[in-house]
Amino acid sequence: MKKTVIGVLASGRGSNLQAIIDAIQAGRLDAKIGVVISDNPEANVLKRMAGVDIQALCIDRRLFASRRQFEDAVAEELAIHHVELVVLAGFMRILSQYFIDRFAGKIMNIHPSLLPAFPGENAQAQALAYGVKVTGCTVHFVDAGMDTGPIILQEAVPVLGTDTVETLSERILHAEHILYPRALALYCAGRLTAAGRHVNIIDKE
Ligand code: GRF
Repeated sequence: MKKTVIGVLASGRGSNLQAIIDAIQAGRLDAKIGVVISDNPEANVLKRMAGVDIQALCIDRRLFASRRQFEDAVAEELAIHHVELVVLAGFMRILSQYFIDRFAGKIMNIHPSLLPAFPGENAQAQALAYGVKVTGCTVHFVDAGMDTGPIILQEAVPVLGTDTVETLSERILHAEHILYPRALALYCAGRLTAAGRHVNIIDKE
């Protein structure tokens, strides 16, 4: 079967991108990364890509007069690389309805909480402050809301009495690195169907 071409949008560290690359190399994910795009020229994710045989580039939001123009530039680059699935991996910008409609049902994100709890920034600190005993991570399709799209997979992670934001984030990140490639593999194998908010996983024949 033809490999699904994915385009990764990332703004920071890039550890989820690394987990996706590792899963492809290990044969756990039958996909090809067409392009990696960062909106931030200083992002560690771009340094991580130096010497890796994958196209990586920066589209600096600050160089565009409007969000529409920035998103057009991103969409154009994704099209040039024949991207079929857009993967947000620590991408720190909210995408407009305009962009989402261009890739309807074809944008995924990972968030470090069990949504719908603790959407938005600093989800791990929100979980600690609230006093929950269990948090985790969620892979979901992206809609125009803040972390509100249909949920694909979730993994629970315990919160310990001794946790700091750092230790909890680290434990959640470890789960993210397993969960995101798994969700992508399901998508690439054609095993995800979405009906409204409900994403179903089709059994393998
Ligand atoms: C992760 O915690 C992810 O859940 C959130 O942003 C962080 C990105 O980390 N959306 P990295 O850049 O993949 O290391």
